[in-house]
Amino acid sequence: MRGMIEMAAIQTRLLPEEEQAVLRVLREGKTLSTGPEGAAFEKEFGEFIGCGDAVAVCNATAGLELCAVISGLKKGDEVILPAHTFVSSAVPFGRTGATLKWADIDPDTRLISAKTIEPLITSRTRMVVVVHLYGLCADMDPIMELARKHRLVVVEDCAQAPGAHYRGRRVGSLGDFACFSFHTQKNITTLGEGGMMTLKDKQNGTLARRLRWMGNWPFEEKRENYWKPAMGNIVEPAPGLWPSNYCMAEPNCAVGRLLIKRLDAINASRQAQAKKIKGLLADIPELSFQKINDGCEHVFHLMSARFDGTKDGKRRDDLIKLLHEKYSLKCIVQYWPLYRSELFSKFGFGKAEVPNTDQFFDNMISFPWWSDMGNELLEDMAERIRDAVGELRES
Ligand SMILES: Cc1ncc(COP(=O)(O)O)c(C=O)c1O
Repeated sequence: MRGMIEMAAIQTRLLPEEEQAVLRVLREGKTLSTGPEGAAFEKEFGEFIGCGDAVAVCNATAGLELCAVISGLKKGDEVILPAHTFVSSAVPFGRTGATLKWADIDPDTRLISAKTIEPLITSRTRMVVVVHLYGLCADMDPIMELARKHRLVVVEDCAQAPGAHYRGRRVGSLGDFACFSFHTQKNITTLGEGGMMTLKDKQNGTLARRLRWMGNWPFEEKRENYWKPAMGNIVEPAPGLWPSNYCMAEPNCAVGRLLIKRLDAINASRQAQAKKIKGLLADIPELSFQKINDGCEHVFHLMSARFDGTKDGKRRDDLIKLLHEKYSLKCIVQYWPLYRSELFSKFGFGKAEVPNTDQFFDNMISFPWWSDMGNELLEDMAERIRDAVGELRES
């Protein structure tokens, strides 16, 4: 029996100097929250992405909530977004009371597109959430053109595609707002949790910072006594908006600063891995991978494919079962179309006209995947897949 291969819970291991950065921050003892590391991480990340401003947050979900709050989304507004995504792409917008409208995916890229968004636009549509899912950048120019025409706010969910380019620009600099995740299972992780919000407009960056830490904000006027009326002010971030606490810790930011320096190299190695495994599986016509359109970079957060079944009717579930039970390769299904889940049904968003999403979900398979898998493991994994598909064809 061969050893089980399954998805790694930590996608990219830290280098010794990145581990050292944690100790440095702890030992310097300046502060462990909202200090110089966070400020430097925001500046360096913003420059890396090429956006107006960047605001560090405790995770991408918190960042997406800030996008919803700053945009003034409210009951009666409509938000267009994919059902085929991780739950965090939708909850922050549903929480505002706005109506969620599920857009279908393109069957080849498996992402939403201007073509699938347009039919859902009404006079109430306020926002589109574009998810660069699995690490592939969506075709943003037509989406932005459509959004400008209808005056829609565009939020990019870049959780799975940090560093990816679109026609020479990085994702996160294309829409009005964007969010990145540094969760343990992302291409880069800041000690398990962390996130960054990027914004086109600098003023919104200031508002995000006022919202991010309970309205704690320095007094802007000069005071005679530093302790009066109290150490710091507590402000209303913007008319009618309550603040919250979405701060990112300093050791996490220190690690993030080092990781963005090698993000391009990490992505390049994941791309090389993807080329290798796709090459090894190229002669299995039942498997098809995401189509990468011109100008849309893929940074391979995940290695997902569609399995169309063998001529004899063997389906995706047969393949996953066989791979798991006989070939010790544990594959999974990502993602459950959100409208089919209990959560969204209970809130009244349990219906959608998304045939491509349904068809993809029922046939998709996600292979174990992480940074630096190495050729030997990729070859072993490909052999197990090839053998299992061969066996299904014969059975
Ligand atoms: C597409 C997508 N959006 C948002 C998130 C939320 O990220 P976080 O865990 O940092 O809140 C994730 C995380 O898995 C994700 O995959």
